[in-house]
This record gives sequence, structure tokens and C-alpha cells, in this order.
Amino acid sequence: MKKRVFSGIQPSGEMHLGNYLGAIKNWVEAQHDNENIFCIVDLHAITVPQDPTTLHRRTRDLAKIYLAAGLDPKRTAIFVQSHIKEHTELAWLFNCVTPLGWASRMTQYKEKSAEKKEQSSVGLLAYPMLMAADILLYQADGVPVGDDQKQHVELTRDIAEKFNREYAPVFKIPEPWIRGEGARIMALDEPTKKMSKSGGPSNAILLLDSPEVIKSRIMKATTDSGRDIKFEAERPGLYNLLTIYQLFSPAGTTQEQIEAHFVGQGYGTLKKELVELVIEGLRPLRENFNQLSADPCYVEDILKDGADRIRPIAETTYKAAKEAMGLG
Ligand code: TYM
Repeated sequence: MKKRVFSGIQPSGEMHLGNYLGAIKNWVEAQHDNENIFCIVDLHAITVPQDPTTLHRRTRDLAKIYLAAGLDPKRTAIFVQSHIKEHTELAWLFNCVTPLGWASRMTQYKEKSAEKKEQSSVGLLAYPMLMAADILLYQADGVPVGDDQKQHVELTRDIAEKFNREYAPVFKIPEPWIRGEGARIMALDEPTKKMSKSGGPSNAILLLDSPEVIKSRIMKATTDSGRDIKFEAERPGLYNLLTIYQLFSPAGTTQEQIEAHFVGQGYGTLKKELVELVIEGLRPLRENFNQLSADPCYVEDILKDGADRIRPIAETTYKAAKEAMGLG
């Protein structure tokens, strides 16, 4: 029996190398081993203000990125979260089951609401219950994500266990699937922070950046004053560049092989080689993306087909949860 995996990305900014190496690339590589459901979580995006036209465009662009990166829509249901109403319906049940203390302890909530606590939306606090609904609606076994989402997947498990204990055993308990390498790609200009959609322009390489921009970002990336090229955690800038190098190298390339390759070389050589590797590594994605842009109807069809295929699973789970709570 194949395992069922569920994951999603917010269309809240342009996609960067962290999203690719921490999530999408792993989804693509494992797609033959699993039954896959990958979502574009537009309802999560609106927990902070979004321009409607931009949100709509980014939702389609993200679908194109999933496809352009190599997800096969025959093997994978790709869909938009707001196209299946059970996500918000189940999220409401979870809002009522989850203690306020659990939700308000979430690091992402604390970070995002820190500056303007009174102005931040109620949706921002309810965010993890919607994420739990995404995962649990489909009875997913695994949730392939980057390291920053681990806490949310753990909360999802706690919510499922509480529901199963207090009402009826409706939900499968999912596991976070986090790969060691690439789970936390750091900002290029400030390698002690993670690369993010909300960081400044020089923090990230965007997946659709031109070769010139990729070159400039990597050549300007912050390193240290050391000389030898080694995977050492206490040299975060170098470590990050080497990690990206490893992930764009042929599968199975080890840290030792990379260190051996760069013996006697300096940071300049590493950066130049990395520029080539990343430009070539992202080239197919960029070209496929441009091709897909020529046929918007194709992408709409994929999204509709994806939602139609999995909606029955969501309906069945939601019905069971509702009945267990005595609703209806
Ligand atoms: P989001 O949209 O912030 O990020 C999407 C995916 O990219 C990973 N990621 C990173 N990985 C490595 N290094 C980085 N610098 C980096 N930045 C982002 C994230 O870990 C994630 O896997 N709450 C989720 C979206 C979501 C979801 C879900 C995920 C909603 N429902 C259900 C899984 C299952 C989020 O904000 O991801």
C-alpha cells in the first residue's frame, strides 16, 4: 500500500529556493512512491492582507511551478484550497476543539503577530487549525515540509488525538516528513535567518529569477573570513552555500566528495561553480513555467481535475467528524 502524502504552500509571495529545496523538490523525487495530494493554500495566504489580483495570479503561478518542477498531474492531485469547502468547515470544528493556549504558543503566530498584535487578524491565530484540517481531511500518512512547519504538524497530531479521544476515532495521525538536507535554507545576506518570502530581495533566490540575478545574489552572499571549504555549522554562510551546492549536485553526492572537490580552492571558485549549478538546475523549471504560461486553460483544467478527484475523500471525513460531534 502506498502512503498518502499531503502538503501545501501559501501563494503569499514569489517562490524561493527554500520552498524548492525544503519542499517541492522532495515532493517531485518521492512522487512515484506515494499517493500525492499537493495544495495551494490560498486561504492561509489571506491571514495577512493580500492584493486580490496579485493573490489570484500567484495562485495560478504556484500551480505552474508545481507542474514545471516535475509533479505529474496523473500521479498527483494538485488543487486550490478554497476550491474544497470542507477545509474551512473542518477548521471551524478544530477551532472549537483546540485550547487557546495551544494555538497561541505557535512560533509562527508569535513572530507574525509580534509587531502589531492588536491589528493582526483572528485568522492568523486560527491558521494552524486550518492547516490541521488540510492534512486530516485526507487521512494523510506523511506531511513533507521544511523544518519551520514541524511545530504545526505536531499540533495537527495533538488536535487529531484529542478529537479521536473525546469524540470518535475519525482521524489518522500523520507524521512530519522532514529531510535532513535542505530542511532549512538560510538567507543569503543574513545566514543566521531562514530564507523567506517576506525577507528583503537579497535574502533569496527566486525560482523564476533570471541567470543574471541568480549570479549577482550568489556572488554577493555573506560568508566569513575563513579560507578552506568545509561543511561547518559554525560558518553558517558557507554551510548554506555548500548545502545548496549539494542539493543541486547529482543525487548521492556526499559532503566529503564536495569538500574534496574544493580542496585548495577559495570562496570565489565555490561561488562561481554554484552560480552555474543553480542556473542550470533551475533552467528546466523556468522554461517549463514559460511554456505553461502560454496555455492558462490547461492549468485551470489540472486544478479542477485535482479538486474533483479528492473532494470525495474530504466529504467523507468531514461527514464523519460532524456526526461524531453531534452536528446536523
Ligand atoms: P510556506 O508557504 O511558508 O512554505 C512552503 C514550504 O516551504 C518550506 N520552506 C522552507 N524550507 C527550507 N528552507 C526554507 N528557508 C524554507 N522556507 C519555506 C516550508 O517548510 C514548507 O514546507 N503552513 C505552511 C503551508 C501549509 C501546509 C499545510 C503545509 C498550509 N497547510 C498542510 C503542509 C501541510 C506554510 O506556511 O508554508
